[in-house]
Amino acid sequence: MNTSARLLRYERILDSSRTMAQLMYLLVSLFLSLGLPLVSALAFPGAVGFGSVATGGTTPFVVTSLADSGTGTFRDAVSVSGRNITFAVSGYINLASPVSLSSSITVNGQTAPSPGVGIMGREISASDKSNIIIRNFRMRQGNLDSDTGKSAFNMGHASNVILDHCSVEYGVWDSIDAVGAVNVTVSNSIIALPIGQQFGAHLETGPVTWYRNLWVSAHNRQPLTKANSQYINNVVYNYQAAYTVANTGGLFSHDIINNYFIAGPSTTSANDDYFQINTNQKAFASGNLLDSNKDGVLNGVAANTIGSAVVLTSPWNPTSQGLATLSAAAAYASVIATAGASPRDQVDAFVVSTVQSLGKTGAIITNQASTGLGNNGYGTL
Ligand SMILES: *[C@@H]1O[C@H](CO)[C@@H](O)[C@H](O)[C@H]1NC(C)=O
Ligand SMILES: *[C@@H]1O[C@H](CO)[C@@H](O)[C@H](O)[C@H]1NC(C)=O
Repeated sequence: MNTSARLLRYERILDSSRTMAQLMYLLVSLFLSLGLPLVSALAFPGAVGFGSVATGGTTPFVVTSLADSGTGTFRDAVSVSGRNITFAVSGYINLASPVSLSSSITVNGQTAPSPGVGIMGREISASDKSNIIIRNFRMRQGNLDSDTGKSAFNMGHASNVILDHCSVEYGVWDSIDAVGAVNVTVSNSIIALPIGQQFGAHLETGPVTWYRNLWVSAHNRQPLTKANSQYINNVVYNYQAAYTVANTGGLFSHDIINNYFIAGPSTTSANDDYFQINTNQKAFASGNLLDSNKDGVLNGVAANTIGSAVVLTSPWNPTSQGLATLSAAAAYASVIATAGASPRDQVDAFVVSTVQSLGKTGAIITNQASTGLGNNGYGTL
């Protein structure tokens, strides 16, 4: 039965309905039949995409120590599920071993006193967990970690996860590893300067929303997204390959709207903005720009041919167009101004400054120290 036929039927039944219970039943089934949510539970005001279903934790817990472990530390905070974590301290937490999150955790990095909070030296993992919200948090693995199989953030086989305004740098395996991850959003984040495999994010399963992120100076995977995907208002700078599906045999759909790809000194083939995308993929692409000339001016041209993907004439997901409120040029301005953890620290400022050179500076690196920043390249917080 189509929607108008349903509505007609409901009207007729409404005419003859007598009880409140009947009315409630009608309203509920009408919302369900139209595919509308009954309640709009959001991870936080302004959360978007598939990960916005995360509700995180509700039990308040305050991090009071930057130590690696012990009472009041970040490791202590995330060891029990259900916690809504705030910070009374700011600065780097220098980890000696990876930290595994529990399920149903919210990390409110924005509550730390200025200049904010983050970790250095090891992986943060939400592997196999669910219902996680991480905001305004810096995750910088770097070569303090000798384990080359670990990433800055790992959410393998996790579900219902949203990272928002995070700064994920110096990842060794990937910046973000998300194989088998379901219902994910990565939004308003900086994903930059991976030092090992030099990869951004690797996600399989999904669905996933990549929204208003700044991806800088990686070899590839910005992201690798073997999933039904929304990729909206992202900026990718100084890539060797950017949006990839790695010629997977999997059949996926991709809404790719109003993104800006900008070549930099390490970009050898600007046309690898879309990489290894075969005929198993379907893509809706609109408003994407490629600035390939490294001339210090933002002057991209249309880039809406998504490899060999079958062309969709409308988005696969009905929410995509509504999320694409910014043009690619406006997304560039917005991401430059606001992406990453707030307030912006030395590492993020350095990353953003390379983007603003619009082709002149930027390098794909193997050691965070080569940024020239203090504290062995981690900068000070
Ligand atoms: C979690 O803590 C943050 C920061 O204090 C607060 O804004 C938010 O309302 C809390 N959320 C829940 C579900 O308790
Ligand atoms: C993913 O989100 C949808 C709602 O959009 C929900 O129905 C589904 O159960 C979620 N998947 C998991 C694994 O939680």
